[in-house]
Amino acid sequence: MPGPDRYVLFGHPVSHSWSPFIHGMFAKQSGADIHYSLMDVAPERFRRAVVEFFQSGGSGANVTLPHKQAAAELAHGLTDRAARAGAVNTIAVRWGDKLYGDNTDGAGLVHDLKANLGIRIAGHRVLVLGAGGAVRGVLGPLLAERPAELVIANRTVDRAERLAAEFIDLGAIRGVGFDAVGQEPWDIVINGTSASLAGEVPDLPARAVGPDSVCYDMAYARTDTPFQRWAASRGVRRSHKGWGMLVEQAAESWVVWRGTRPDTGPVLTALASL
Ligand code: ATR
Repeated sequence: MPGPDRYVLFGHPVSHSWSPFIHGMFAKQSGADIHYSLMDVAPERFRRAVVEFFQSGGSGANVTLPHKQAAAELAHGLTDRAARAGAVNTIAVRWGDKLYGDNTDGAGLVHDLKANLGIRIAGHRVLVLGAGGAVRGVLGPLLAERPAELVIANRTVDRAERLAAEFIDLGAIRGVGFDAVGQEPWDIVINGTSASLAGEVPDLPARAVGPDSVCYDMAYARTDTPFQRWAASRGVRRSHKGWGMLVEQAAESWVVWRGTRPDTGPVLTALASL
């Protein structure tokens, strides 16, 4: 009798991950017989670990920091969105034994904003903070929603400018420093920096947000993040953290691997009550 379909998350470190919990709930919901485990591999071991996992019959993999770019390099084929992002968070097997790389992060964020939180991106002014890998992964799907404009603000200005230049063919996008985001409150401000990890907040002008701005932190924690606390202190009435993005990108990975989209509602409810 064949065993469960095996899935794995490659990362370094990876022990803090909620993905086994999330995929475990998806599996229960659909009666799928899967086993989802964590694999902590150092960068120099990554390529070999992926090849061995799939040669041993693995069904699919997720990839997190610091391996997303290396995963894009080793895949035999990439979806357009993964090629644009230059990063892969989902690997599936296609064409017999070839590794196919996708990136579901941006779709996860957009799904959370639109479907779960009812936030309209189209026609709105969107400010994205940070210019690293996390932001690169979400720019294409955000621009596909046709915001009125999308500005990337980063501590290191030229990183923001260079990143914006890579996506300019997809819509109205530019890169600036934090002090150049203007004095008009943004409709949507998305924090994609890793500043929260150090308990810090990007140094934005106070007037960049107002009561009607929606602030979204791609980071997640049980309590409000430093960015959410900053937003509240500036009078922002509505802020969210990245649990929904996490669950929705997992659901999109499930689609890539298994062809159906799980119901994310019960998982979001379970995580919210932790
Ligand atoms: P990731 O893959 O998580 O995006 P990264 O590529 O190292 O990681 O990018 C981290 C991002 O967070 C960068 O935009 C970084 O700004 P710099 O490009 O100026 O380094 C941003 N960042 C990290 N710590 C920050 C802080 N304390 N304040 C503001 N931005 C910060």
